[in-house]
Amino acid sequence: MATTAATRLNLTRRPRRLRRTEAIRTLVRETRLTAEAFVYPLFVCEGRGVTRPISSMPGVAQLSVDETVREAEAAAADGIRAVMLFGLPSRKDAVGSQSSSPDAPVQEAIRAIKRAVPGLVVTTDVCLCEYTSHGHCGLVEGDEIVNDATVERLVETAVSHATAGADFVVPSDMMDGRVAAIRGALDARGFDHVGIIAHAVKYCSGFYGPFREAADSTPQFGDRRSHQMDPANVEEALREVEIDIAEGADIVMVKPALPYLDVVTRVKARFGHPTAAYQVSGEYSMIKAAAERGWIDEDRAVLETLTGIRRAGADLIVTYYARHAARLLA
Ligand code: PBG
Repeated sequence: MATTAATRLNLTRRPRRLRRTEAIRTLVRETRLTAEAFVYPLFVCEGRGVTRPISSMPGVAQLSVDETVREAEAAAADGIRAVMLFGLPSRKDAVGSQSSSPDAPVQEAIRAIKRAVPGLVVTTDVCLCEYTSHGHCGLVEGDEIVNDATVERLVETAVSHATAGADFVVPSDMMDGRVAAIRGALDARGFDHVGIIAHAVKYCSGFYGPFREAADSTPQFGDRRSHQMDPANVEEALREVEIDIAEGADIVMVKPALPYLDVVTRVKARFGHPTAAYQVSGEYSMIKAAAERGWIDEDRAVLETLTGIRRAGADLIVTYYARHAARLLA
């Protein structure tokens, strides 16, 4: 008697039926990756017609305002809905004065992008590390980064971004109380429509290395351990998120993404709040470097990591791969 393998195994459930063709796989796909979820970071510098490549982040460059606008237009054409601006000032000092200057690159870029691509959501990094001569995220007394005085500078910075037309400000400093202080200052000045994407959970990570070249923000002494989180902690992450939501964060962010997917999942499950994850510079450069050596397939690695971040629970993903991935998905 001829018995089939199926009879012998008596299989009533064959999960492979749902993987037979790409059409079937698409029908039952649980996580849909779309360009609409991406936020595209841009590094804005002084000058005109400037494109200054960042050696540790192939494909990413510091751009002058005019070039930033062109890149924002191209991103919008690729289906990207939001950009995140980081500033490279021409002059740095101990208090990061340029961060709140109406004529600094970020403030100019906000106005220029809003003129050129009004529908694009403009978000702006709010931190002092790109603007301080010592490279720290706040004001320094002795070897300490002082919290409350720093928050005042962050508030001034956020207000200047809102004044220039930013849709969201994105405090990435990890000082205590800055979300409430920024919220209060924005509301008091009639910017109640401007939102806050809070780096609620920002780990003290080795994956920020290439960014510090990109943003010229390497601390001249010490490190960021006094304010960024210990990679070992997740309960603390939930407390941070709880505080930032209570203080008025519209969107909460976890950063970096890949080593902290469990944190993304728990934050989303616990609070059900719009949740972003930041695929940081080191995550980007790691894929780039391996791909340049021919060790991995870049396109597959990009879509797989971004899908993983979405599957973990992120609604939004900040990624230097935004345009690349959008084109792959188109
Ligand atoms: C600090 C800031 C950092 C990043 C964004 N904002 C790094 C740091 O803490 O030094 C890192 C982003 C990345 O690595 O892509 N303002």
